[in-house]
Amino acid sequence: MTSALATVAARISAAARLTILTGAGVSAVSGVPTFRGREGLWRNFRPEDLATAAAFQRDPALVWEWYRWRRERIARCDPNAAHRVIATWSNGDGCRVITQNVDDLHIRAGTRDLVRLHGSIWESKCWRACGQPPWREDTRGVSPSPASGTCPACGGLARPGVVWFGESLDPSDVVSALACCDCDVFLTVGTSAIVHPAAGLVHEARRRGAFTVEINLEPTPASAVVDVAVHGRAEDILPRLLQGG
Ligand code: OAD
Repeated sequence: MTSALATVAARISAAARLTILTGAGVSAVSGVPTFRGREGLWRNFRPEDLATAAAFQRDPALVWEWYRWRRERIARCDPNAAHRVIATWSNGDGCRVITQNVDDLHIRAGTRDLVRLHGSIWESKCWRACGQPPWREDTRGVSPSPASGTCPACGGLARPGVVWFGESLDPSDVVSALACCDCDVFLTVGTSAIVHPAAGLVHEARRRGAFTVEINLEPTPASAVVDVAVHGRAEDILPRLLQGG
């Protein structure tokens, strides 16, 4: 492992363009539950049962209750060593970060140039898509009750401002993420690498000639594709990479 880390660290310091794709594993030690880990369940619902337009249509109060619980939990979490290392890299030249995480821990750690593929848990948007741009909830940990959560423009129901299963990503975010695939080193960190289109980015980066690296607790479908797969905790591995391996 030490020589693999030294190889990756050398590649990172020589890279003019570094791209990092992150998933829920990066925020796990901060206390944000991963989606597919044991803590992902809320009252026996799987995220796939709640993070859909069909679930919201059926029971908006239940879906809001889950998001309210998640907002309150994220408000109590702080960035960890993995977020801090990524923020350090992002403040150098040529580094771009793409995240699937709807928490704001990369931002709070000081990351620049961040593409938020799945939106922000702190935003809400109009359920009827009346044209009102997403708006930020002002008070941390407090989200609208189903009765008060309304669109400021049309008065219709508000919904969480995140991308749900089965929904398309914002096209401009897809363009930005694809542009990030033009890089010298592409790191995929803390993601199960099964949710597309994010999971396809490492393939695209490799196709465009990047040296690709996975850092994850366990093997994923990306492990067989990347040049180097490092299995361990992001909060342990990234600080070692920053220090040269
Ligand atoms: P997952 O919950 O699918 O995967 C998290 C990955 O992180 C797993 O492979 C874990 O092994 C790994 N992991 C856990 N703790 C770790 C640690 N400390 N260090 C390194 N790795 C660790 O979460 P995502 O891959 O982010 O989408 O899920 C992708 C998308 O699916 C989410 O953004 C969300 C979800 O459904 C939408 O809501 C649209």
